[in-house]
Amino acid sequence: MECKITLIPGDGIGPEIVGEAVKVLNKVADKFGHTFNYTKILMGGCSIDEYGVPLTDEAVDICKASDAVLLGAVGGNVGNSRWYDVAPNLRPEAGLLKIRKDLGLFANLRPAYLYNELKKACPLKEEITKDGFDMIIVRELTGGLYFGERETKTVNGMLEARDTLTYNEEEIRRIAIKAFEIARKRKKKVTSVDKANVLDSSRLWRKVVAEVSKDYEDVALENMLVDNCAMQLVMNPGQFDVILTENMFGDILSDEASMITGSIGMLSSASLGKTKLGLYEPSHGSAPDIAGQNKANPIATILSAAMMLKFSLDLDKEANAIEEAVAKVLSEGYRTVDIASNETKEVVGTDKMGDLIAANI
Ligand code: NAD
Ligand code: IPM
Ligand code: MN
Repeated sequence: MECKITLIPGDGIGPEIVGEAVKVLNKVADKFGHTFNYTKILMGGCSIDEYGVPLTDEAVDICKASDAVLLGAVGGNVGNSRWYDVAPNLRPEAGLLKIRKDLGLFANLRPAYLYNELKKACPLKEEITKDGFDMIIVRELTGGLYFGERETKTVNGMLEARDTLTYNEEEIRRIAIKAFEIARKRKKKVTSVDKANVLDSSRLWRKVVAEVSKDYEDVALENMLVDNCAMQLVMNPGQFDVILTENMFGDILSDEASMITGSIGMLSSASLGKTKLGLYEPSHGSAPDIAGQNKANPIATILSAAMMLKFSLDLDKEANAIEEAVAKVLSEGYRTVDIASNETKEVVGTDKMGDLIAANI
């Protein structure tokens, strides 16, 4: 099979981790007889440096003309880098929001499970993780606070800033359907997370999710307030199957979920819309603190490439081969520094981790 893949290395550790994912994809192409044609585009700080904007319309058109998009991460030290001395819509992260919106990627899937081999890297007590956990966060990605009206103005001689959180029924319904469809193929439980004790948008969320659930009688629906969910995630993560939530809550809860898998460097993600074209990226950022040091864990990006093969390219066998190769390398005791423990056989750099996974395809 021949596929067009757009690569967005981005900033910070982005080019390092995307490089390792491409290494693994090339091995898959070799082994299974496919041709992956890559086109690279700029997004984030590197695009600001080159074009003065974080993402050009031409770059979006290249994404639209491809079968799938693989992203590293964008951004620099917020507040302490030249990329942040400009209006918000010209900063690196605006490129990410634009690509999500322009490609209509309303569903962000972030799977968080504990590899047996990484139990020592998980910061939770052993009694909490003895049976492991396996959840997927289904995060709404093109609405809510991220895309609401905002402004900063002076009122009575004082600066005042405003961000608005809006959801309509259709935006809630389509992400809820996604969550129930996914739950149906898993353990058949959806936990819808909101702040319905305070927010109107959450009360509408709950109402629409309840309506959608009527079409999925085989799936159990539970509602949970977001503050409780943050606590339950570290107290009893094994209770969750599918967590359905709005944009900002999903952002925060997915970082928390990633850390209990051992490291944020483990959490992959897929952003999907109505068509096959998806954007695949690790859930973490550009990690400016370790950029260029060959320290970053490339596994989240490599597992995102596996999700890309599965969801956008229908290459399930190949995706499984990547997942198995990751598990094999972990079972052999190789770790990047973020997931290392006293039982680690060898702490390896970004490039060696990529080599090892590619060698196991
Ligand atoms: P971050 O996720 O980049 O880093 C948080 C911490 O996790 C850092 O200590 C970092 O070293 C570590 N870390 C992250 N990824 C790692 C990996 N693969 N291996 C090992 N350690 C890893 O979050 P931040 O520091 O809050 O943000 C840095 C920049 O990234 C900001 O500009 C932010 O806006 C941006 N960001 C981008 C994305 C994205 O492009 N999808 C996501 C989140 C943050
Ligand atoms: C993520 C990131 C982004 C988000 C930022 C960089 C805009 O944190 O993908 O989780 O909040 O969605
Ligand atoms: Mn985030």
